[in-house]
Order: sequence, then C-alpha cells, then structure tokens
Amino acid sequence: MIAFNRAANTQSAQSLAEHISHAAEQLQLHGFDRYYNAMVGAYVSEVYKTLNYPSFANATNRAQAPLTSLEQAVIYTTLYGKSHFDRFSEVIAQIMGKNKRSEAIARTINIVDYGCGQAIASLALLSYLEKYVNWENFTLNFHLVEPSRTTLDLAVLLVTKMSSRIAANVVIHQYNKSLSDFLEYDSEALATADYSMHLFSNVLDIDAVQQQIPSLCKYLHSIEGKQMVIAVGPQYSNNYQGLQQLKRSLNDVTVKQDVADFSIESEIYSIKNNHWQHSASYGVMMGLCFKNTLSDKNIKIAA
Ligand SMILES: C[S@@+](CC[C@H](N)C(=O)[O-])C[C@H]1O[C@@H](n2cnc3c(N)ncnc32)[C@H](O)[C@@H]1O
Repeated sequence: MIAFNRAANTQSAQSLAEHISHAAEQLQLHGFDRYYNAMVGAYVSEVYKTLNYPSFANATNRAQAPLTSLEQAVIYTTLYGKSHFDRFSEVIAQIMGKNKRSEAIARTINIVDYGCGQAIASLALLSYLEKYVNWENFTLNFHLVEPSRTTLDLAVLLVTKMSSRIAANVVIHQYNKSLSDFLEYDSEALATADYSMHLFSNVLDIDAVQQQIPSLCKYLHSIEGKQMVIAVGPQYSNNYQGLQQLKRSLNDVTVKQDVADFSIESEIYSIKNNHWQHSASYGVMMGLCFKNTLSDKNIKIAA
C-alpha cells in the first residue's frame, strides 16, 4: 500500500510539474492571461485533491511565509495571481503612462523585485514594456530576491519565458535569501544603469520586511542614478503602515503617486465556489522617484 501511494505521489508530482511547464509555455506564447488559465487548470485537475485553502493559509501564514511546494505555488497563483498581476499592471500604467512610445532608444534598466514570489510584479512590468515601449535596444537586469527556493525557481522560469516575447537583452540575477541578507551581502550587486526600478508587490506588510526599511532606504540611496520605487499591496492596515514608513524614511523624493486606494476588476477562478467570477480587487499603491549622484553618495558615506 505504501509503495502504491509513493508511486501515485510520484505520478502526481510529475503530472503537476508537466502542468506548470505547460503553463509557462502558454506565458511565452500568449502572455499572462493564458498562463493564469493554465495554472487554474493545474489546480482543478491536480492540486485540489491534496491541498485545500485552510491548510494552505495555515502552512504559509496566509501566503506571507516562503512557500515550500509546487502545490502551494499553484494554489497561490490560482487564488491571487490574476488580481496581483492586474493590480500591479494598473499601477505601472498609472505611474509610467499609457502612451505608446515607438522611438527606439537605448536604455539599461535594473529591476529589483523584492520578495518576488513567482515574479508577478516583474511579469506585469514586462507586459507593460511589451505593450507600450519600443524595447529593441533595452537591456533589462532583473534582480529577483526571494527566500523560497521553489518560488524563486518558478520566478526565473517565468521571467525567462515572458522575456522571450520581447527582443530586449535580459539578464536575470537570483538571490535565494531574505531581504535582510540581500541588503547585508549584495548591496553592490546593481550595475550602472539609466534607471533602477524597485518593485514591492504585496511584501511591505510583512514584519521582517518592515524591520528592514531603515537599511533598505540607505541601500536605495546608495545606488547611482535615477531610481523609481513602485509599491502595491492589499488594503490592510499593516500594508498602509509599510508604504507610509518607506515613503517617510526616503528623503528627497518626487512623489509620482502618493499612497492611495484603488480597485480593479479581474476575472478570477474562485476555489471557494469552484467557478470563474468577475470580482473587484482592492489595493493600495505608491510611486516615488529620486536621483542619487556619486557626490551625494560620498557625502552620505562620510556622514
Ligand atoms: C504575499 S507574497 C508576495 C509575492 C509576490 N511579490 C507577489 O506579489 O505575488 C510575500 C512574499 O514575500 C516573501 N518573503 C517573506 N519574508 C521575506 C523576507 N524577510 N525577505 C524577503 N522576502 C520575504 C515570501 O517568500 C513571499 O514570496
């Protein structure tokens, strides 16, 4: 019986891996919506048999703790993937504008996705670039910071697949660690760029992340050149607190988008009702810009 169960488990693990790989192909071929549909397919045909919402919420502290299995990754995407993607896409468009830019300009952009999970914020950014920007001469340096090995592997796979939809030169750096370890050991990781974009998607409500805000601000001011911070999260008090704290602690910033509520309609699969539904996703957003110059940096270090 045990041997049979093991064989069944291995079979189901293989089947789940195949579903995820199929979903990643859909992302590459057709974009995020079809990827989401395929991940829902993986949930409906495999994951629902072994993992329900209460067990998932309990094991992951309602998705704040690092995920530990592919089953958890699939249920996370089914529950939140589409609304997180739609919310982050909306905020990027709000901050960066919805005008198509056809001029081919050479740009090097660093993108740091903090607590990236399955890189939904990075995928939303790539999707924005695909739609609105002439990226022919772009170099995009992704820096994915995430303590869960399982989700970081998926993040690298998904950013690779999505990047192949645009002709930009994309380089992915991965950091399988917490924010505190990233700030301590990798603070020199970013190469010189025209812009550095700092993405915070559903992470500023996490205690361990909030505790790092003073070090994070020092870090953000130590990177040469133009910086853009984009933060989005749910309308929880902890999240408002995280966004406000980050805004207050960063000096000399231009507020492109102040901390504000918003909502967006998404077509999502409800695992509670076992069907697709149209639902409003409520969020809070913030967009800040600033420029650091080397002389600023020297003054800061000297001080
Ligand atoms: C709610 S999920 C958000 C994931 C992703 N950014 C998104 O929008 O879908 C929170 C993420 O923060 C990560 N995380 C938890 N503690 C962290 C820490 N101390 N440093 C960095 N990331 C952390 C978790 O592993 C998880 O991937």
